[in-house]
Amino acid sequence: MFCKVIAIANQKGGCGKTTTAINVSACLGKLGKRVLAIDMDPQANLTSGLGINSEELNESIYNVLIEPKKGIKRIIHSTRFKGIDVAPSHINLAGAEIEMVPLYGREFVLKKALENIKDDYDFILIDCPPSLSLLTVNALTSASELIIPVQAHHFALGGLTKLMDMFDIVKEEMNEGISLLGVVVTMFDSRANVSKDALDILKKDKQVSGKLFKSIIRMNIKLVESGKEGAPIIYYDKDCHGATAYMSLTREVIQRYRVAA
Ligand SMILES: Nc1ncnc2c1ncn2[C@@H]1O[C@H](COP(=O)(O)OP(=O)(O)O)[C@@H](O)[C@H]1O
Ligand SMILES: [Mg+2]
Repeated sequence: MFCKVIAIANQKGGCGKTTTAINVSACLGKLGKRVLAIDMDPQANLTSGLGINSEELNESIYNVLIEPKKGIKRIIHSTRFKGIDVAPSHINLAGAEIEMVPLYGREFVLKKALENIKDDYDFILIDCPPSLSLLTVNALTSASELIIPVQAHHFALGGLTKLMDMFDIVKEEMNEGISLLGVVVTMFDSRANVSKDALDILKKDKQVSGKLFKSIIRMNIKLVESGKEGAPIIYYDKDCHGATAYMSLTREVIQRYRVAA
């Protein structure tokens, strides 16, 4: 199978991007796929969520973006979870945006870095920062698909148009091959009207409705705990509903590729 590169993006913070990136990576790995998870957020939550202490690292994805010629292989770490490697982040990535300004082709630095490692993986998942910044643009120009996590709350829906506008611009001008793989509803609370209302709005939205994943990620404190523990949910508590939901989402992700092929 040709390597699929999935950007997980939404400029809204706290909508479940990192949790989705960690757990879909882990489920893909568990299903026998070779996965690289790339942390493009200076907050480095994906890095720590996969059990790596970013403060102890000499080099991270930051160094790849600043000195692309040195390649990405040297910063990749293996993890203790089946099938997953990680390209970690570091807080100094926050400065990368400005440091990358003089670079020629600065929107394509990550894409170039990925070229010679794509053969090593079935899937590369890129966890984006909560902004429509140059880091997110680098993820989108590298990606073959985009997954958008949306928190089931109507406040969370406002930014979707902006994100889709950016997606359209990237597709038109920088990466015509990218497509929207799907929109996943996260932090759904079946007792809360705001959650049900948000889901109704998404189901009626023309841009989104056909792309909604059937698997809905409900509120689950175990997902918070597992993130703090530095382990994906299927390794932290494989029977909780968060684990089941992420496995079911991952099977849908694979299924969407089969349908498209
Ligand atoms: N389904 C969920 N139920 C409960 N808490 C969640 C769920 N998904 C994510 N969280 C928690 O919400 C916070 C924000 O999630 P995160 O994945 O870091 O969002 P983002 O990467 O979009 O900022 C984290 O503390 C995370 O553990
Ligand atoms: Mg995050």
